[in-house]
Parts: sequence; C-alpha cells; structure tokens
Amino acid sequence: MSPQENLRSVNYGNLVSGERYTPESWQRQYSPVDDWDETFRNGNWDDLGDLSQAARHALIAGYVHKLVRRGHVLDAGCGEGVLIDYFDTARIEYTGFDISRTAIQRAQEQHPSARLCSSSIEDFVPPAGVQYDAVIFNDSLSTLKSPIEMIDRYSAFVRPAGYIIVSQYQSPNPLGNGALLTRMFEAELAAGRYRVAVRTEVVNRDTDRRWRSYCLTGV
Ligand SMILES: C[S@@+](CC[C@H](N)C(=O)[O-])C[C@H]1O[C@@H](n2cnc3c(N)ncnc32)[C@H](O)[C@@H]1O
Repeated sequence: MSPQENLRSVNYGNLVSGERYTPESWQRQYSPVDDWDETFRNGNWDDLGDLSQAARHALIAGYVHKLVRRGHVLDAGCGEGVLIDYFDTARIEYTGFDISRTAIQRAQEQHPSARLCSSSIEDFVPPAGVQYDAVIFNDSLSTLKSPIEMIDRYSAFVRPAGYIIVSQYQSPNPLGNGALLTRMFEAELAAGRYRVAVRTEVVNRDTDRRWRSYCLTGV
C-alpha cells in the first residue's frame, strides 16, 4: 500500500464519523482533476444533460424559482450549460462560467443568447455593481483545492438574503471526492457554519446515482 493509500485508510474512521473541514485535511485526501478541458474533449461528461440526471438540475431550478422568483443567478462551473434549459428565462437572468473553454463553447452553441464566459472559480469576479440572488455550485466543488473557502468567497457575491445552492454527486466510493466533501461539509453544517434552508437527496432508481443538494441562506 502506498503511503497515500495508507493515510487514507487510517483516516477513514474519522471521515465516516464526520471529520471537520480544514484546508490541509481536504488537500491531503481529495483527488484533483488535472485538465478539465481534456475531459470535455474526450467526452467524459457527455451524460451531464441526460434524462437520467434531469432530477438534480430540476431540483436546483425549482429552488431558484420558488425562492428567488425573479432575479439573477450565477452558475459557477456550469460545464456545457445544462442547467440553462431548466430556467424560466422570462424571470431568471442567468450567468454561467467554467474553467473548460470547450464546455463553454458547447454551452454557447446550444444557448447563443446566454451570458457565458470562461474563468476559474478561484479567479471569477462579478462585473462592478452586480450581486446575484443565488450562486449555484452544481457538482463543481468537489475537485477544487479549497471548496469551502470558495463557498465563503462567493458569499460576498450574493445579495443580502440571497442563496448559495450546492449540489454534490455522491460517489459510491466513500473515499471519492464527492463522498469526502459531503462528510466534511455536513460536519461544518452540524457545527453551525452555514444556515441551511433545505437539504435534499435526489436518487435515480435506474442507475442508483445520487446527489445531495443544500440551499444555504444568510451566507
Ligand atoms: C461534474 S462537472 C459539472 C458541470 C455542470 N455544473 C453540470 O452539473 O452539468 C464539473 C464542472 O466543474 C468545472 N470546474 C472544475 N474546476 C473548476 C474551477 N476551478 N473553476 C471553474 N470551473 C471548474 C469543470 O470544468 C466542469 O464543467
């Protein structure tokens, strides 16, 4: 067993019991993706818009329509812009960005009038004077070097009484990024770090794939 695998297995007991998030602990255990653009070019994410994943997108859009009603949302790490199809554009203004230029190009081809750009979550800054009614991290946190810090950073981009919506794929491997981040994030919630308006789990009964969603308020 490599030292890294050994470290992970030693830590496993802590993780299932709700390990608190620290940058050091996260960075020691998560698996980064080196080149997101390559994964899009290789077609690794061609299923993001499939009907089998519709429920997780529809849930986020449902939260936005119910809570924001009319306003501007930011989709941080929007991929190919799958979420755009789920919004009532008569009342929801949409901005999306992604680190992958290929994903953004495909999103723009599908949605020529959508406001999209290529940027990293770490570097994105809203245009002067813009605050969002909701910021959405739709399956885009768990490969970041500093996921919880990014939630905190984006809280400054949300209007007072706005929302941050996090949806996270639950990797079946308990040491996978999604499962690891969920356990640490929930430990932070249990410690009172954020206020949660609602939390939900979406399960596709055919594939048994599941996503947890959290609607944070007062961030
Ligand atoms: C699993 S995909 C989800 C895409 C989309 N949100 C969806 O649910 O269909 C993760 C997305 O996060 C983007 N991403 C990962 N790290 C990023 C970063 N540091 N800055 C911006 N986007 C990032 C990837 O390029 C990818 O599009």
